[in-house]
Amino acid sequence: MKHLTRRHRVSAGTEALALFVGLSNAASRRLVACTQCRYNSTGTSPSGNVTVDGKSYQTDEWHNLSSNITASISRRLHVQKDHPISITRSIIESRFPSPTFKYHNNFFPVVSTQQNFDSLGFPVDHPGRSKTDTYYINQETVLRTHTSAHQADVFRANESEGWLISADVYRRDAIDRSHYPIFHQMEGARMWDRTKAPNGDIAAAVLKDIEALPKHSMKVEDPNPPTHPERNPLQKEHSLTEAEAIAAHLKKSLELVVVEIFSRAKAAAVSANPDFVDERLKVRWIEAYFPFTSPSWELEIFWQGDWLEVLGCGVVKQDIMDKAGQPQQLGWAFGMGLERIAMLLFEIPDIRLFWSKDERFLGQFRGLSENLDNLRRFVPFSKFPSCYKDVAFWLRSSSSSAGGGSRANTQDFHENDVMEIVRDIGGDVVEDVAKVDEFAHPKTGRRSLCYRINYRSLERTLTNEEANGYHEQVRKALVEKLGVELR
Ligand code: PHE
Repeated sequence: MKHLTRRHRVSAGTEALALFVGLSNAASRRLVACTQCRYNSTGTSPSGNVTVDGKSYQTDEWHNLSSNITASISRRLHVQKDHPISITRSIIESRFPSPTFKYHNNFFPVVSTQQNFDSLGFPVDHPGRSKTDTYYINQETVLRTHTSAHQADVFRANESEGWLISADVYRRDAIDRSHYPIFHQMEGARMWDRTKAPNGDIAAAVLKDIEALPKHSMKVEDPNPPTHPERNPLQKEHSLTEAEAIAAHLKKSLELVVVEIFSRAKAAAVSANPDFVDERLKVRWIEAYFPFTSPSWELEIFWQGDWLEVLGCGVVKQDIMDKAGQPQQLGWAFGMGLERIAMLLFEIPDIRLFWSKDERFLGQFRGLSENLDNLRRFVPFSKFPSCYKDVAFWLRSSSSSAGGGSRANTQDFHENDVMEIVRDIGGDVVEDVAKVDEFAHPKTGRRSLCYRINYRSLERTLTNEEANGYHEQVRKALVEKLGVELR
């Protein structure tokens, strides 16, 4: 299925589940913060007020929230009874039982840049902080881009050995069937306390906990050593045996999540078709980098011919525990995207469906929250025709006439601004936006881009006039807001 496969595109790293600071992103995201981005989709004056889910905030020139985002903040799909995102959350929670794990499902989505970035050790020039990637309310306040924004606070509160946080997260992003600017993540952590482990022996305590986990027979590829001096360093505060034990507990716990999800997906498939035979489930661990864990990994699942990234994780940086007043604790953390897991679990073909209020969608999950053993696959209602429209334009020439050539031309342009304009106008009627052509004028160096927008409703047939209406507005907004020249 194309929508779940990884595609090479300009912002491959912006996949809804492709992780925020994952290596794949580092390469594709801009390496400098785009402070020049002029696009402000709400059209609010730089200093004013915005109300988010009942709370009022002062805005400034960093403000870049659009009204369709603000309007969706209150939906909280992860706690809506019988919603597939909420069902997926419950299934994963069942693998991390209370009281060892405490569940936090109601954290407010507005956080400080300190919580979202600084508390986790993101450098000041990290591309994730850019206005083109993150929704800012004002210079110090954002819509969280990941559930890790709450790590430090939950560690500081120190209410349980383990915890899970499920929440809505926000990223300015590409538009296609697996990307939506709002999605849901689950963050988890499990800590061990040096002062509580018998003889202070953390490794032994962790190994004992590993023994207590169930066994599984899934095939796991894990070719790298648990730590590597350059690629995946051991922290100086940990012994190798400690880090190895924590890594083993982490990996085993997450493999069991995959086994749980897929055995339920299989049961759902078999109930629809008793002859169903699945391909053998296979996962692999990949070395990764996150500013707040070391060593770190990503987990990929082999699904319908492709490796699919589903989560990021690692051994929690001791610095975070020290600052949270818990220097005696050490352990692991992970973050996973719930949409992709739910799409696999229920075979949901388009991420926009999660936002649908159509009974033909919601009705298919009714009653399942209380009956998780009765999962059924999603049966798509009719597929409505798509309507492709192209828009080609020259980027603003002002910067190149200032002598910077074609590179200067790109400085204040970011593809996510195009995405945001299209999303603002077309909303959920836009299925996909893809760059189909790009070239630089051989003499002037001026850059031309062409984007193909696929207008398709999930709920009804769009008329050509309607699609034209949207497209005309998009063309106008590109000129007005980004200063491009239509070709
Ligand atoms: N917050 C990371 C992301 O969104 C995932 C992560 C969480 C990685 C916890 C490591 C530990 O990409």
